[in-house]
Amino acid sequence: DDIEIDLDETSSDAQHLLRAAEELRTSNVPIAFPTETVYGLGADATRSNAVQGIYHAKQRPSDNPLIVHFASLDQLRALLRPGMSIGDGPSINATNDPIPSIYRPLIKQFWPGPLTIILPNPTGSPLAPEVTAGLSTFGARMPAHLLALALIKLTHVPVAAPSANASTKPSPTAAEHVHHDLDRRIRTIIDGGPCSVGVESTVVDGLSEPPTILRPGGISIEQLRSCPGWENVQMGYKNAAETGSQPRAPGMKYRHYSPKAPVILYEVGRSPPANQEMVPFLGTNQRLGMVRTKRWKVNHRHEDRAVTLEAGNVNGTELSNRNRDNRHMTGVTALIAALDATPEPRKAMQSMSLNAQETTFLVLDINIGPSTDSIARGIFAALRELDREDVDAILVEGIDDIEDSVAAAVMNRIRKASEIKLSS
Ligand code: TXA
Ligand code: MG
Repeated sequence: DDIEIDLDETSSDAQHLLRAAEELRTSNVPIAFPTETVYGLGADATRSNAVQGIYHAKQRPSDNPLIVHFASLDQLRALLRPGMSIGDGPSINATNDPIPSIYRPLIKQFWPGPLTIILPNPTGSPLAPEVTAGLSTFGARMPAHLLALALIKLTHVPVAAPSANASTKPSPTAAEHVHHDLDRRIRTIIDGGPCSVGVESTVVDGLSEPPTILRPGGISIEQLRSCPGWENVQMGYKNAAETGSQPRAPGMKYRHYSPKAPVILYEVGRSPPANQEMVPFLGTNQRLGMVRTKRWKVNHRHEDRAVTLEAGNVNGTELSNRNRDNRHMTGVTALIAALDATPEPRKAMQSMSLNAQETTFLVLDINIGPSTDSIARGIFAALRELDREDVDAILVEGIDDIEDSVAAAVMNRIRKASEIKLSS
């Protein structure tokens, strides 16, 4: 069940990989590498100094445990049976496998892949205590990226790796993102191009009864439920789905996945919160980033809400926004209504001036939809791209977080990133 990797050691790629593996094995400065989910910041999980280097480079609080990456099941089993070397004792069967049987169907289905399983940290574990942050368990994952697998294989050590962003920033889904955040803090980034999944692995705890999802990610709830023993898997993470939360005082808020600009989550079909019309960030002449996720559909929200457009100016089109009570909509509500009424889909990043309620915004629009997979791949990069444009706020259009897709993971990340939640 293990992956064979044939490396032509004379190629320059292999030389770079060997150098990176050597650095990973000996240095206390972590190195960044691609995985199918996001880029990881890796260190030898068995050396305290090396693991401390991760927390230092990321400026991450050290009470947050790290995921340990393996290139083979043999490597994982060896860690679970300290003191026994691979090949010692009887061969592995269903009764003597140190990997708890609850995980067998998941490993068979989803490894290598975007799934992290929680395992008991064995007595005499070779893992550095910094990896588990004081817990009696650790998270294990076998990534589905050839460069990650090759790197781990070449180092011959389990590799502890969180996402390779500076703490609080959106996770990195391209080598440039890592470079932007960690330049001068690390020496080596292995560039594997953009990540194919785009959100982190699903973290599951099969040691609890019933089994629990600790973090939604690249493997969906429905995929987990299809496995024997996982039919009743529970959601053990807080789904901060509350809308209309007041913006908390800057600096008081625990930030996660956050660009510089405040993120405003906009969701259609949730009941409107009291602060709907009052968005403090949007004065006149501000730059607003928008992350669109929907297939373009002219006027769809206006029909839903019986809003008519009468005057104003979007891309030279005269519009204004009045709701059923003939009351002017203001702020973000008006802005969204006006943008939705723009007849053409806009590709990539475009600028436009919007004149709604005597307010002029410059809108930078990125459409990462309409497929859930493309939204997952594009969400973190879009937040970063808008940050580079120095926008004053970023409006993100929410999606339905249905269980059969990676949408639950996407919305989990957007909710964590957003300070304000709007709805219609
Ligand atoms: O996709 C991924 O998982 C990426 C790539 C690099 O593999 N890694 C990643 O690591 O996202 P990090 O450190 O950013 O997230 C680790 C997550 C956290 O939510 C942490 O709380 C949880 O895993 N975790 C780690 N060990 C745990 C444990 N023993 N018990 C419960 N949760 C644990
Ligand atoms: Mg992270």
